[in-house]
Amino acid sequence: MLEYKDYLEGAGALSEKLGGFVPEILIILGSGLGDLGERLDRPAIIPYSEIPHMRFSTAPGHKGRFLAGELGGKRVLMMQGRLHFYEGWSAEDAVFPIRIARLIGIDKLIVTNAAGGINEAYKPGELMLISDFIKLNAVNPLVGPNIDEFGPRFPDMTRVFDREYMAAFRKTAEKHGETVHEGVYFYCTGPQYETPAEIRAMRILGADAVGMSTVPECIAARHCGMRILGVTLVTNMAAGILDKPLSGEEVIEAGKAASERLSNYVTEFLEVI
Ligand code: HPA
Repeated sequence: MLEYKDYLEGAGALSEKLGGFVPEILIILGSGLGDLGERLDRPAIIPYSEIPHMRFSTAPGHKGRFLAGELGGKRVLMMQGRLHFYEGWSAEDAVFPIRIARLIGIDKLIVTNAAGGINEAYKPGELMLISDFIKLNAVNPLVGPNIDEFGPRFPDMTRVFDREYMAAFRKTAEKHGETVHEGVYFYCTGPQYETPAEIRAMRILGADAVGMSTVPECIAARHCGMRILGVTLVTNMAAGILDKPLSGEEVIEAGKAASERLSNYVTEFLEVI
């Protein structure tokens, strides 16, 4: 298990590599959505391998590095590639970057992901603001001795996603004629895609989209008091909704196709918050 001193060491290294640049917002770029990083002018590039105790990205479309610079008038730290439980990292490892970001003073998080649409009113290529999540029995990143410096043993999760941020993002995207859904994200560890029976069960439970990330990060971020915006790109309809199999390539391709649009909205969102 990681100890508080390990997070301090990771944060110290990150801070040193940033060389006096103090970011205010952490942005996690999901599958195929890494292009936002290209919008930073001469960014500082910090591979995860340079941060002690931090794991590396192995998922396709995830580069595994921090980028730092200015975007939309804000000082941002981006994760070009995240860490997933299905890669074999622990849930605690997957949220390590959130916690070191908090330690260097970042208290805002924008998290993006690719997900399967469960709500049949959704179409691939559309966006969903995450209003809440369902995790049920998947491993919780806060399991283990509580680190009181981050937050309480039993953190409240009544409102994980910030309403003001949701409204601001919606306004920005709708100005461009975008359909912006609002819904519940169901977290599955993966790596296998869900079965049609699982998707039917999730729908009954109130889920609108399903994915393999984001929730551990948001739990850790709320635990340490961060304001969060969660944006899902529906890359495909979830298993069993259409009469065709799911593929990882389809997810990456849909991510790439939407990357430019989503990057525009995130940039404009940063300008108004
Ligand atoms: N299921 C789980 N994760 C996903 C999906 C899906 O259908 N699409 C993109 N990520």
